[in-house]
Amino acid sequence: MSHGILIVFEGIDGTGKSTQCKMLAELLSKKGIANISLAEPTRGEWGMKIRRLLTEGRNGVSPEEELAWFINDRKQDVELNINPALNAGKVVLMDRYYFSTAAYQGALGFDPEKIRKDNEKFAPQPDRVLIFHNSPEKSLERIESSREGKSAFEKQDYLMDVQGIFKSFDGPNIRFISSDASLEKVHEQVLREVQDLFELKL
Ligand code: TYD
Repeated sequence: MSHGILIVFEGIDGTGKSTQCKMLAELLSKKGIANISLAEPTRGEWGMKIRRLLTEGRNGVSPEEELAWFINDRKQDVELNINPALNAGKVVLMDRYYFSTAAYQGALGFDPEKIRKDNEKFAPQPDRVLIFHNSPEKSLERIESSREGKSAFEKQDYLMDVQGIFKSFDGPNIRFISSDASLEKVHEQVLREVQDLFELKL
């Protein structure tokens, strides 16, 4: 049975990971390499519940419930989208995956390592994880410009904690990419970090 390649784009908002994900997808398509782009939270029932929580606020939803929703959403994504595409031999590009759960829900107080291990019981491990980060100054600038209301400082601290957890991940499939350079330069680095997974020159 053929098996595809799973490449994951991770990092806090404002690091340009979604744009880089699109740029790689376009290049793969141009080279005739079958690929699919997926994002979590998904547009499925759990993903929509999560999106409402993100836009409308917590409204009594506990951190435990929030964590469970992300896991439920991912279980569906694995079953309905990720595994079928991998089994069809496609390159699967993901804008966020369980490293986001480890980092974001980890920053709420859960153990990031435990979250990662729990997810790896049901979610296929990526061939490559690209973790995007900005310099602290640039991250703060981005976070500041999106601040709303009184909880702004909490939000800023929270996202710096999230970025700290992202930076703490290690493993043979993990690569860190600074997104301070131009889109093109960052794209070139993305290619360098995934090239070995492909037979064709990207
Ligand atoms: P995001 O990628 O920003 O979605 P969109 O661009 O479609 O709005 O994801 C939404 C938020 O969800 C983002 O702030 C990170 C958060 N998130 C978690 O807290 N845990 C997770 O497991 C995932 C996948 C996302």
